Amino acid sequence: MFKRVPGTRDILPGETECWQNIENISRSLFTRHNYREIRTPLLEDEPLFNRSLGETAEIVQKQMFLIKREHDVYALRPEGTASIVRAYIENNLDKQQGFVKLYYMGPMFRAERPQKGRLRQFHHIGCEAIGSYGPGIDAEVIVLADSLLKALGISGYRIALNSLGCVSDQQAFRVFLKDKLSGRLNDLCADCKDRFGRNILRVLDCKNDSCRHIIRELNISGSSRCAECESHFSSVRRSLDALGVSYEISPNLVRGLDYYNRTVFEFKHDGLGPQQDALGAGGRYDGLVKQLGGPDAGAIGFAFGVERLILASGLKAETEMVQPGLVYVITLGDRARAAGVKLLADLRGAGVTADTDYEGKSLKAAMRTANDLKARFVAILGDDELKEGVVALKDMSNSSQEKVRISELTDKIKGSSK
Ligand code: HAM
Repeated sequence: MFKRVPGTRDILPGETECWQNIENISRSLFTRHNYREIRTPLLEDEPLFNRSLGETAEIVQKQMFLIKREHDVYALRPEGTASIVRAYIENNLDKQQGFVKLYYMGPMFRAERPQKGRLRQFHHIGCEAIGSYGPGIDAEVIVLADSLLKALGISGYRIALNSLGCVSDQQAFRVFLKDKLSGRLNDLCADCKDRFGRNILRVLDCKNDSCRHIIRELNISGSSRCAECESHFSSVRRSLDALGVSYEISPNLVRGLDYYNRTVFEFKHDGLGPQQDALGAGGRYDGLVKQLGGPDAGAIGFAFGVERLILASGLKAETEMVQPGLVYVITLGDRARAAGVKLLADLRGAGVTADTDYEGKSLKAAMRTANDLKARFVAILGDDELKEGVVALKDMSNSSQEKVRISELTDKIKGSSK
């Protein structure tokens, strides 16, 4: 028997309704903020991610699913931002509109060690606003992410906020860290020893207790930001304050991807599993569009992990394969079967969810199926009913039964389902 690949999941009927609900709420919210949907391929050229996320990023180093074909190497996308910037440039979106607001939802792939809340195929819901450097859009994007969680009924999260400053601020910060940490190298975990040489900023968000202790002692305050970056960050904070969004300033929040600068943020929640607390995250990536061959364009976005949204919302996926409001049509005999086919088509055409038995089961067996499917109504059609132009309609919610004219059935059902 075949099994699914570790770290992937089947999303079954019963759960899919919960996913659709999350997707519908997200679509509606993005649309109200004038974001339009973009769908990019799951496959991209591998170098797109190496260039965007950085050679030293953990995703690039260890987590990309690569597919080699002849001379090309493709990657299953590990995230959406790089692909969207590629699409923005390739399709000349900058020339059409200048500033664009895009949203997306779909699967991402990372070869991580699977555990609760950490999968190899997981799903993002996110957005990217490309074409503005102004702090106004930073605040709007963070508020939008906050509104999305609220709309999904999620509470108990906190927003960690930081500004990484510009490229030269980050360079100065790296020098500062190298200087401070070089004397403590032996006390850092093996991963951080490696990070010290390759990507020292990542030491700041190490989860290891002794590394955290060392970092706390450094008392990092974010004071390495230049005046312009400081003023940008103050403006973002003022807008969030004015809108009543609470956040914590987290000078240690650096994010793991090279493309970030200035504003970065994470939505944290404690119910996501032992090794992770991020429901979603995002930030500015002002250099990326130019770096990938496009124009100068400031940009910012975020992505939530849908599986983690579901964990945090406590939304219990029903795993029963039932359709609410189902009408189950049972026909008895050949003539009734032909009429039943028409009845089904009429019900479905009028927007009612309807199904039938295809095996010619007895009334008793068909009623059992209707029960198993948790049908709301059963419409029984035999020769006698046909002659009279009626069905025997059983309301399964109270077991009452009445004759209803076939021509009035749809209205009757729609009226009762209200
Ligand atoms: P990220 O922090 O790598 O950011 O991923 C965003 C979210 O995806 C995480 O906070 C987490 O909820 C979810 N996630 C990541 N990896 C996994 C996994 N293995 N299993 C389950 N969920 C996972 C980005 O990807 C950026 N592209 C976000 C962004 C958009 N920045 C700017 N624009």
